[in-house]
Amino acid sequence: MTETPIPLVSAPVRQGLAGEVRVPGDKSISHRALMLAALAIGATHIEGLLEGEDVLCTAAAMRALGARLERRDQGVWEVEGVGVGGLAEPEDVLDMGNSGTAARLLAGLLASHPIFSVLTGDASLRRRPMRRVIEPLAAGGARFLARGGDRLPLAIEGARAPLPISYRLPVASAQVKSAILLAGLNARGETVVEEPVPSRDHTENMLRHFGAELSIEPAGSGRRIVLQGGPLLRGGDIRVPGDPSSAAFPVIAALLVPGSEIRVARVGVNPLRSGFLLTLAEMGASIAFENEREEGGERVADLRVRASALRGVDVPEARVPSMIDEYPVMAVAAAAARGTSRFRGLAELRVKESDRLAATAALLAANGVKVTIEGDDLLIEGAGGAPPGGGRVATHMDHRLAMSALVLGAAAQRPVAIDDGRFIATSFPGFVDLMNGLGLAIREEERG
Ligand code: S3P
Repeated sequence: MTETPIPLVSAPVRQGLAGEVRVPGDKSISHRALMLAALAIGATHIEGLLEGEDVLCTAAAMRALGARLERRDQGVWEVEGVGVGGLAEPEDVLDMGNSGTAARLLAGLLASHPIFSVLTGDASLRRRPMRRVIEPLAAGGARFLARGGDRLPLAIEGARAPLPISYRLPVASAQVKSAILLAGLNARGETVVEEPVPSRDHTENMLRHFGAELSIEPAGSGRRIVLQGGPLLRGGDIRVPGDPSSAAFPVIAALLVPGSEIRVARVGVNPLRSGFLLTLAEMGASIAFENEREEGGERVADLRVRASALRGVDVPEARVPSMIDEYPVMAVAAAAARGTSRFRGLAELRVKESDRLAATAALLAANGVKVTIEGDDLLIEGAGGAPPGGGRVATHMDHRLAMSALVLGAAAQRPVAIDDGRFIATSFPGFVDLMNGLGLAIREEERG
């Protein structure tokens, strides 16, 4: 990443958006594909891998741990794994950049290998809590030393004889669940994770795809997952669907700019990820699922989106895990809807790439939208059409805030500027070109 910030400005769009696009591969699935392929026996070919900076950090880490990874023709990645338990001690610190998923999932893998390692990341990642993985993973026999007990850099002395972990998650977190399951691969016996509300199940789907034995049962309002340790993971082929979290940006831009009609092809619509599509439907959005199908254990569809007059909505706390990353851009949708919206129970947003609860409220307030934080709820008074805009948004090293503000600019009465667009590349390389291809007007801000 270049050292100087890249300020961008997004101007109101007067003509409806049009066209068909494909968004880059799913970030969550891409991290998991690389990690499991690196533990498999034989070659894995991954098509549609997200080549964003977060995922490239995982690729570099798996290389440093002994797997062979190569990018082949047409962007297909070939990975030769080392087998479960076969990771080698890295020679240097592993830098996970901006990626919480990479850091936490990798901590799980490293905890059950008899090796020493150190994880670090950028200023945003070094502020994020790690105790949520340290505590359960320590029960498997690993030792951890972290800055302030909770932050990166994090030194890990992996267990020599890893014990299987049984853990009930205090919050619904797919990252914590996945870290424990990944640690369980190299432990003898059953690893058990109980989650209070189901969170994204890409780790479970992909573990099965590679041949691991896993049972998933309902438990109260959540799930109980049991993994048998020491499986033989076999390499194979993986197709990564388009990332629904990235699709949310063109989808919402098209809903808000009058006269728009677009198609976003091959988007992952796993129900544990697509809570925002349900919420948009409740708001009156016209989004049709076309060619719905299953690819490699994940549901995929093409989305046809038409501009729609949206209504305010009350989103229950139980829906948080299935739309956790979409709240900033959903707040933009709510800002243009008619009536007030309430998004409930957003405490977890405070520990994302930035304090996304405060930063989302600030993004809207800077653009003339009435917004309040009440406890952990976000309340947004919709403009019933184009919000005022005209503001400058601080993005706090957070890709999703940056992209949400640029979508707001397209739908607002006046342009919206952001202080830095560099972090967009962590999850959505090519965002500006893709959005401008649909009709947005995003430019680098003139300096001076
Ligand atoms: C992710 C899980 C979510 C999400 C993150 C990706 C994953 O985090 O916010 O962007 O790939 O497992 P939590 O599980 O911590 O809520």
